[in-house]
Amino acid sequence: MTAVRQVQERIARQPRRWLVTGSAGFIGSHLLEVLLRLGQEVTSLDNFATGHRRNLEEVRAAVGEEAWARHRFIEGDIADLAVCREACKGVDIVLHQAALGSVPRSLADPITTNTANVTGFLNMLVAARDAGVKRFVYAASSSTYGDSPHLPKIEDRIGRPLSPYAVTKYVNELYADVFARAYGMQNIGLRYFNVFGARQDPNGAYAAVIPRWIKALLEGGQVVIYGDGETSRDFCYIANAVQANLLAALTEDEAAVNQVYNVAVGGRTTLNHLFAMLRELLSQRFPAVAQAQAAYADFRPGDVRHSQADISKACRLLGYAPTHDVRAGLEEALAWYVEHFSRRGSADGAGTRMAAP
Ligand SMILES: NC(=O)c1ccc[n+]([C@@H]2O[C@H](COP(=O)([O-])OP(=O)(O)OC[C@H]3O[C@@H](n4cnc5c(N)ncnc54)[C@H](O)[C@@H]3O)[C@@H](O)[C@H]2O)c1
Repeated sequence: MTAVRQVQERIARQPRRWLVTGSAGFIGSHLLEVLLRLGQEVTSLDNFATGHRRNLEEVRAAVGEEAWARHRFIEGDIADLAVCREACKGVDIVLHQAALGSVPRSLADPITTNTANVTGFLNMLVAARDAGVKRFVYAASSSTYGDSPHLPKIEDRIGRPLSPYAVTKYVNELYADVFARAYGMQNIGLRYFNVFGARQDPNGAYAAVIPRWIKALLEGGQVVIYGDGETSRDFCYIANAVQANLLAALTEDEAAVNQVYNVAVGGRTTLNHLFAMLRELLSQRFPAVAQAQAAYADFRPGDVRHSQADISKACRLLGYAPTHDVRAGLEEALAWYVEHFSRRGSADGAGTRMAAP
C-alpha cells in the first residue's frame, strides 16, 4: 500500500480536529474536502481576500451534508490575533494556507502582502502555540529559492529573494524554525512549486498561469507568454500537494519534523511546452483550439527563470510519492475547467463559446 493510502487510513481510523486556513481558496478547499471525506472535524478560516464562497459550496456539494456538519467555518482575517485564537481552539493539527499569493501583487502592494503573510503567519503561530496545537503544517514557497542558479533546487541551498512575496514566505520559515526551537512546537513547511488543479482562480490580474491560459483558450482569448517561453517550472498537481500535507501532518519520525520540504514532481516544463500541451489536450474536445497561438511579451520583474525541485527529501523523510505528473494533472484539471466553464457559460453552453479560439 502506498504511503498516502496508509496515512489516509490512519487519519480515518482516528478522527482528529483540524484547522485549515485559506479554505475558500484553491489549495485550502482541497484540504478541507479530503479531511471531511476522511471523517474529520474541521474548523476552517478565510476572509475571502482571494478565495470564494463558491469553493466552499462546491466542497459541501462534493462531501454531502453529513460530512459538512463536521465543518465549522469562521469568516475572519489572520491579521487579527483574536480570530486566530478562536480558530485554534481545541485543534490538534493546523494546515495553514491563508496568504496573499502572487509575485506581481507583492511588488505592487508589499504592505498588504506583508500584513497577511507575515503578521498573519506570526499570529497563527502564536495562537497555535497557546492552544497547544500538536502539529503546524504551513504553505511555504519555491519563491524562497530566489536568484539561486542551482538546479534542481535543494532545500538548504537558497538564494536572495526576488520579490516581497518571496521575502514573506522565507520569513515564515524563519519564524516557524524559531518557534520550534524556542517553544517546542512541531512545525513543517511545504515549499509548493506552482500547484495547479480544479478551483484555482482563472480570473484577475494575479491569476496563476495554468488557469489563466485554460480560460483564455476556452473563451477564445489571447494567451500571453512573458519572455521567450523557455522559462521553466516544476508544475505540481493539487493531489500531490494534498498528499504532502497529510504526510506532514501525521509523520511520527522526529527527523521529519521542524523541516521544510519541496513539494513538486521533480520535472521541468517550459512555458512553450505547457502551452503546446494545453492546446493539444483541449483541442481533442474543441478542435478549433488547435489553431490558437500565443503572444509574447516582456519578461516580468521578480519572476524566477527556472524552477525544478529535488523532491528526494520529502520522499525519504515523509514517504512522499507524487501520483500525478504534469500531463496527468492537466488532464484531470481540464475536465473540471471545461465542466465549470460550460456550467457558467451562456445559455447554449460552453461548446459554442469554445468553438472559436
Ligand atoms: N498555488 C501555488 O502554486 C502556490 C505556490 C507556492 C505557495 N503557495 C501558497 O499556498 C497557499 C495557498 O495558495 P492558493 O494557491 O490556494 O491561493 P488562494 O489565493 O486560492 O488561497 C489563499 C486563501 O487565503 C485567504 N486569505 C488571504 N489572506 C487572508 C487573511 N489575511 N486572512 C484569512 N484568509 C486569507 C484567501 O481569501 C484565499 O481563500 C498560500 O499560502 C500561497 O502563498 C501556493
